[in-house]
Amino acid sequence: MKITSAEFISSYADVKKCPAPDLPEFAFIGRSNVGKSSLINMLAGMRKLAKTSVTPGKTQTINHFLMNKTWYLVDLPGYGYASASKSTREGFGKMIEEYVKQRENLNCLFVLLDSRLPPQANDLDFIEWAGGQEVPLAFIFTKTDKLKQNELQKNLAAYKKTLLTRWEELPPIFLSSSEKKLGRDEILAFVETAIAN
Ligand code: GTP
Ligand code: MG
Repeated sequence: MKITSAEFISSYADVKKCPAPDLPEFAFIGRSNVGKSSLINMLAGMRKLAKTSVTPGKTQTINHFLMNKTWYLVDLPGYGYASASKSTREGFGKMIEEYVKQRENLNCLFVLLDSRLPPQANDLDFIEWAGGQEVPLAFIFTKTDKLKQNELQKNLAAYKKTLLTRWEELPPIFLSSSEKKLGRDEILAFVETAIAN
């Protein structure tokens, strides 16, 4: 899919205030700092559409972007940011939980995983919970530019092995680097197919 327009709509702290659910929607979730906002910019082909930061916890609300005037792309706050206060963490949790449960036009939830790390407990917890919801999932392994091909394959294999102890069949998996613009065509093609079906 060619991106012809990408427009920031607004930020919301409550799923009930989000735009009318009249277009297909694709959301990006994952631990703080995993690279959600950077990936969204890479997909949009715009460097500063979504705000990114070296400091975890940058995105704190639900952010809607209208793509090609036909679908919504959503940047979500990260989960599992240990330094955030407990009440803030619970707040993120609740916002994300309600968004995933209540957003009726949510076509796919992309769960971003840091390709440099072995399976992380909070990611597995989130995947376990999200897998029990009604929305289809897909996984995106981020920051693949930061490690060597053999390390990447090793981490990927470890993740798949862990996930296969909980899932009979794995959801679609993508590899990405926002730095090197990798994974863009594959993810956009997947979105295009999902919208068409
Ligand atoms: P929160 O909004 O805090 O939850 O974080 P986020 O998941 O939106 O992460 P963000 O996109 O802000 O990126 C976090 C940091 O990782 C930034 O310093 C980015 O430049 C860096 N980063 C993101 N993606 C990549 C990537 O593909 N490669 C490299 N090398 N760095 C990346
Ligand atoms: Mg962000």
